[in-house]
Amino acid sequence: MSASSRPRPLRKMVLPVAGLGTRFLPATKAVPKEMLPVVDKPVIQYVVEEAVAAGIEQIIFVTGRGKGALEDHFDHSFELESTLQSRNKTQALTEVRAPIQAAGNVIYTRQQEPLGLGHAVWCARHLVGDEPFLVALPDVLTDPAAPCLARLIEIYGETGGNVLTLKEVPLEEVKKYGIAATGAPRGDIVEITGLVEKPDPERAPSRLHVLGRYILQPEIFGLLETQTRGAGGEIQLTDAMARLMERQPFAGQVFEGGFWDCGDKIGYLHANLAIGLSRGDIGPKLRPVLAQLQLEA
Ligand code: G1P
Repeated sequence: MSASSRPRPLRKMVLPVAGLGTRFLPATKAVPKEMLPVVDKPVIQYVVEEAVAAGIEQIIFVTGRGKGALEDHFDHSFELESTLQSRNKTQALTEVRAPIQAAGNVIYTRQQEPLGLGHAVWCARHLVGDEPFLVALPDVLTDPAAPCLARLIEIYGETGGNVLTLKEVPLEEVKKYGIAATGAPRGDIVEITGLVEKPDPERAPSRLHVLGRYILQPEIFGLLETQTRGAGGEIQLTDAMARLMERQPFAGQVFEGGFWDCGDKIGYLHANLAIGLSRGDIGPKLRPVLAQLQLEA
């Protein structure tokens, strides 16, 4: 791509966080599922930190009723901060302040009805405006050791257009995801030629699933506006992307790192153990606990 046709810079990220978290009841009755901790940080904080480190400046939450804890988490807590300060708990104070972004850089809107992911993204249209944007599904956690978003944004710098993170899953799991039809890979980049939401294994065009990290062009909003309901009776982002593909290129980032679906109990427990084991302050103490449990099993 020549310098003159360099893709427009990516500044904004949309985080759809309106989901009810029914798979985690009763824990999510009064606590948003995105606030459940993985070791000692809420699930949502991992993706926000990764995106900010990769250069994202504005974070747009598409939230809903009962999600106030999310807003509080990304704001100051003066009482807590002054107590920690007066007790000289500097490390804890740093942790408490870590999620806070520059004033005005975190924006909230509400999805008033649970009409699906496509509808949630459409709710952010005025806040995104006429520029490319990143969408990240916070239930999905990628291994912090593998720089998923930084590489996704780098690929976008090369290809422009729309870029989705893809990851292979076992055939029996394709029914849970958006699945891509692709061309031949060039390193970790593939052309995406088709997308289908939650196909039966026998109809799946591949085993490459859409992992929940998307760079999209703003033309998606016009298509979402007219998108009819698809899989599960919901307005699916996948269906609108399949229509956008008729007009604009789509590339895939074939992600080799690990990921965990924290919207699923086993995925969530797996993320806690994997991230706990990878941490210098926790791993050495957790390892013998796991070994002991395995002996007892
Ligand atoms: C959503 C998307 C799907 C994607 C998945 C990733 O599905 O619709 O295309 O593969 O997230 O986790 P959901 O998990 O909302 O059913």
